[in-house]
Amino acid sequence: MSYETRRSRINLFLICFVGCAVVFHLIRISTNVSSKRVNLLIPTFNTSYSGISKTLIYKESIRRPRIASILTVSPSKRYLFVLPFVVAAWQKLGVEPIVIVVGDPDKLQKQHQAKLTIEILIELGAQVHFIQNETTTAPTLSQTSRLFAAAMPFSKDFSADDIFITTDADMIPFHLKNHIPNLLAAQKAYLYNADCISPIAVPPARGHHKVPQYPMSTIAATVSTWREIMGFSSTDFDGTSIESYLKVEFGQDFFHPNDGDKRKLVQHGLIWYADQSLVSYKIHEWFKSNPDNRAATTLTRGGCYPRIDRIKWPNPKDMPKQNLNLLGDAHVLEDGFINDQWERFRPLIDLVFKGDQYALLRERFDQYRSDYIAQDCC
Ligand SMILES: *[C@@H]1O[C@H](CO)[C@@H](O)[C@H](O)[C@H]1NC(C)=O
Ligand SMILES: *[C@@H]1O[C@H](CO)[C@@H](O)[C@H](O)[C@H]1NC(C)=O
Repeated sequence: MSYETRRSRINLFLICFVGCAVVFHLIRISTNVSSKRVNLLIPTFNTSYSGISKTLIYKESIRRPRIASILTVSPSKRYLFVLPFVVAAWQKLGVEPIVIVVGDPDKLQKQHQAKLTIEILIELGAQVHFIQNETTTAPTLSQTSRLFAAAMPFSKDFSADDIFITTDADMIPFHLKNHIPNLLAAQKAYLYNADCISPIAVPPARGHHKVPQYPMSTIAATVSTWREIMGFSSTDFDGTSIESYLKVEFGQDFFHPNDGDKRKLVQHGLIWYADQSLVSYKIHEWFKSNPDNRAATTLTRGGCYPRIDRIKWPNPKDMPKQNLNLLGDAHVLEDGFINDQWERFRPLIDLVFKGDQYALLRERFDQYRSDYIAQDCC
């Protein structure tokens, strides 16, 4: 064997040895890595396994709250007519409408329009409750009674964390997102259009200062939060208890069963906004009592949310072009049942309740309107 041959054999051996060592080492590393991975994988699997089961338990513990919209009405032709449309619009958003009617149910049965409206409300599946005014006017009791829903007997059917939304009987909402607190984010109340209007005087028996004004058009809060804000400890409120509560806040002589045009304009204005004055004051006090309450309340900012308003009502031919995604609600026409007003109002119904699934509802609404004007009417 020549020197060169021996040398190359040694080289080959060395290369092989080094190579084998490297390969062996690599195998060891990869084994380590894979054994580490296995070690990592098992707990990961176990963690994610228990994670999944935790998620399932967590989801089961989240109960979807029931959401009810609180509508009230004093039985005049003008206010009654639009209620079924408003009720159906809330139902379309998955909300249960509760209608509080101020008046004697037996007497209302004998009134053509009241009878028709109450009939269709029940047919649609709304809950209808009656209360009576004694020391205030029907419109005053109607407006303010919205704030007392969480103290009225029907509230016993709801859980403490269900949501009540006060709302206007002449407002057709387009979306739910502007009207409910996010309970998962620990929100308890939602004030819509919270910086839309200027401050308001507190109820006279509570002082002479002003507080930020929150529109009743919607104020949403959980049932227990409403009870906290308003200081309710009973669920037996009727018309008389509401009137007594109002007397404490506004003074014994503030309201009168025949408040008419004779009263001073300023006081008249205060009476008209009594509900807003009362709730704005109560919310203000609730915020002051605990900073957590303010943190648990969502207030929409940026002025008044755009809407379809009766003062700038679109022409019938422009109505289908309205983009409901960009609008909050419709503040509907008064006397929508009268001929020329119905021509203007009907296109909104086509827009809000469009599609085959609402064909029967639209037909029913047409029937309701023609029944409405068939007697004692325009
Ligand atoms: C993974 O969970 C199972 C079942 O709870 C258990 O028997 C096993 O020991 C766990 N494995 C590890 C590596 O924790
Ligand atoms: C209820 O209010 C109306 C006015 O809205 C009034 O005419 C009526 O007298 C009141 N009812 C009672 C029992 O006072």
